[in-house]
Amino acid sequence: MATADVLAQPGLPKQHFAPIIKGTATKRKLETTKTFDPTQHLAFEQPESILMMEDIGFSKDTGVSPVAVSQPFRLFTPECIQKFRDEVLSEAVMSECTVKSNLAACQIRGYAAKHAPFVYDAWHNPTLLSHISKIAGVDLIPNMNLEIGHINISVKSSAQAASERAEIERERKNYDQDEGIAGCPWEDDKPVVGWHTDSYPFVCVTMLSDCEGMVGGETALRTGFGDVMKVRGPEMGCAVVMQGRYITHQALRALGSKERITMVTSFRPKSPHLPDDSVLSTVRGISDISELYYEYARYRLEMLEERTRVQLKSLREAHAAGKKTDEKGMKAFLAQQKSLLERTDEEILPYEEVVRGKQPEVKVDEVVVVEEDRSQRVTKRAKLG
Ligand SMILES: [Fe+2]
Repeated sequence: MATADVLAQPGLPKQHFAPIIKGTATKRKLETTKTFDPTQHLAFEQPESILMMEDIGFSKDTGVSPVAVSQPFRLFTPECIQKFRDEVLSEAVMSECTVKSNLAACQIRGYAAKHAPFVYDAWHNPTLLSHISKIAGVDLIPNMNLEIGHINISVKSSAQAASERAEIERERKNYDQDEGIAGCPWEDDKPVVGWHTDSYPFVCVTMLSDCEGMVGGETALRTGFGDVMKVRGPEMGCAVVMQGRYITHQALRALGSKERITMVTSFRPKSPHLPDDSVLSTVRGISDISELYYEYARYRLEMLEERTRVQLKSLREAHAAGKKTDEKGMKAFLAQQKSLLERTDEEILPYEEVVRGKQPEVKVDEVVVVEEDRSQRVTKRAKLG
């Protein structure tokens, strides 16, 4: 299916960003893209802290790592962010790779391998992957090429952003006069992307916009305690790493700034011997489905191939050494591969059953945003460094 097919989705929210972005993209003459150089384009700083799964009410064995989510940390230089933007907002990418769904008004997907060599190189760079892996607590690689640099966009006119800033200022004054009795009225809990869990174990969310004057833009997490907590969104050039497959979350709307463009890259464990719970539920409806099935089936079969190669080697060696065949070990291996194949089979739905523009939304009842100081509850913030 061509990407253009994904765009024709009657009844979905109208995109209102197009003129602003087009202006930005065409005014700039794109430089010849240089290769990603970690010494020039990375500005990595350790996150102040990392929230563990147990901190937010989940067992540490819930996912592929005990890590839940990091605080925002600096990752890229301004020059690198500009290069990302040049590639992402180029005419070819904007015209061929823009999609929308019931959960998000504007996304750009599946462009990196074809149109964005700099973005593609960055997310395959060993130094970058090592930083992300250390934060995640497990060695990670990009899940699929299709998931490199997924973009969520929200753009407003200058007038709209200024009017929001004025409104926020008015509300702040009223709030001060009320001594805070009215709560936090300038906050806006309407999401950019509705409640969901990600399809892949880990994501790294990078901010590509200048956040000056921005209010909101946090990620809201549904905790294992049954409440909702907000995690601060990253500033331009900064990123957040989260085990989004296992935590129901949503990106809250940002007010007072002209644009909010985030780059989301999804990861899976590097070792083919570790479990991989990746699914396709949130991405089938917004992807070139043939390409998605190709990449998913290929890497799952590669995992099976590598696991089988190792198992076969050990079977042959044990036999050559005159040992009794380990039937329990063999049955455990076969059960693990059966589960891998069954999950892969379940995720590859017939083409005719895939609804374009449809992403499953998780219903979260009685959403209560907890504003209390959580320092009492969060007892095990892992310090890095
Ligand atoms: Fe997400």
